[in-house]
Amino acid sequence: MKIHKLAIIGLGHVGSEVLTKAVATNIASEIACIDIKENVAYGEALDICHSISSTLNRNIKVYSGGFETVKDADVIICAAGPSILPGQYERLALAKENVKVITDIMTEVVKYNTDAIFIMITNPLDVTTYLAATKFGWKEGRLFGTGTTLETLRFKYILSKHFNVNPQDIQGYMLGEHGNTAFPAWSTVSIAGVPLDKLSQYYPDVVLDHEAIKKQVVKTAYDVMDAKGWTNTGIAAGAIRLAQAVFYDEKAVLPVSKVLHGEYGLEDVALSLPSVIGKDGVEKRFAIPLEGQELEDLHRSANCIKEVLRTCNLI
Ligand SMILES: NC(=O)c1ccc[n+]([C@@H]2O[C@H](COP(=O)([O-])OP(=O)(O)OC[C@H]3O[C@@H](n4cnc5c(N)ncnc54)[C@H](O)[C@@H]3O)[C@@H](O)[C@H]2O)c1
Repeated sequence: MKIHKLAIIGLGHVGSEVLTKAVATNIASEIACIDIKENVAYGEALDICHSISSTLNRNIKVYSGGFETVKDADVIICAAGPSILPGQYERLALAKENVKVITDIMTEVVKYNTDAIFIMITNPLDVTTYLAATKFGWKEGRLFGTGTTLETLRFKYILSKHFNVNPQDIQGYMLGEHGNTAFPAWSTVSIAGVPLDKLSQYYPDVVLDHEAIKKQVVKTAYDVMDAKGWTNTGIAAGAIRLAQAVFYDEKAVLPVSKVLHGEYGLEDVALSLPSVIGKDGVEKRFAIPLEGQELEDLHRSANCIKEVLRTCNLI
C-alpha cells in the first residue's frame, strides 16, 4: 500500500509548527525532518514522537535525518533559512543570505528526489521560489511558493471583523508579492456569491477603507513579529492547507507563487495568482481580469521582485 510521506526542511519556528500541524491533521503517515542543525531536527522529531503516544494523534512515523530522507517524499515543505526580526520590515532584505541557503538545499534535494511537490516557505518567498523553480530542473508546476496564501488568510480575517461573518465564508484574494507590495484584488471579494459592490444592501453600516485595509494586511505581519518575535502559526496553517490540497488531489483554488509565462505581459518573475492545486501541484492558474489600480499593483509587485532577482543575478 502507498504510504504518504512528507519531508520538512528547516525545523525552526515555522518548520516546527508545520510539523505540529502535519501530525495534528494526519496529513501523512511518514514525516522526515531535516535541518542543518541536526540536533534541532532530532529534538523536534523526538518531541513530536512522544505526543504520538497520546490518543490525540495517529501512529505517524516521524524521524530526522540528512537530505537522503527526502527520497520517496510525496511533498517537501521548505522553511529553512533565517527570517526577518522584530523591527525589520522588509523580507526582500533576506535575499542574499537565503539565495545561498536555497541553492545549497536544492543542490542536495535533487540528488535524491525530483518528483515530489515542493512547497517553498523561505523568504523572500517569490525570489526563492523563482530560484528553486528555474535553476534545478524541477518540473513545471510541481514547485510553488505559499505566496499570498498567508496574506489572504489575514485579509479574510480582517474582512470577517467588518462583516461579522465566518472568514471561511468570504471569497477573495490577496495577490502579487508575498511582502510589502501584496494587494487585495477587491474585484474577487464576495460573500454568499454577492460581490463586494452589492454587499451594501446587506451591510448598510459597513464602509470599507480599501487603502487602510490593504496597509493593515501587510502591517499585521509586523504586529505579530513585534509582539511575539516571529510568525509561524498562520503560515503553518497555510502551508498545511496547500499540502492537504496536494495529498487529497483536491483541485482547491488557492493563491500561490509560481513563475509567470507572459500573464499580464510578465516573464522572469514569480508571484501569486489564484491557482488550482491538486496531486500535480499547480494544475491551472487564473490570470483573472485586473484593471486600473489592481493591474498597477500587480506590476508594482513584479517590478519589486524583479529588482531583487537582478541584484542576486538570477535574471
Ligand atoms: N512565506 C511566508 O509566508 C513566511 C511566513 C513566515 C516565515 N517565513 C520564512 O520562513 C523561514 C523560516 O523562518 P523561521 O522563523 O522558522 O526561522 P528560524 O531561524 O526559526 O528557522 C530556520 C531554520 O532553518 C535552518 N536552516 C538554515 N539553513 C539551512 C540549510 N541550509 N539546510 C537546512 N536547514 C537550514 C536553521 O537551522 C533553522 O532551524 C524564513 O525565511 C522566514 O522569513 C515565510
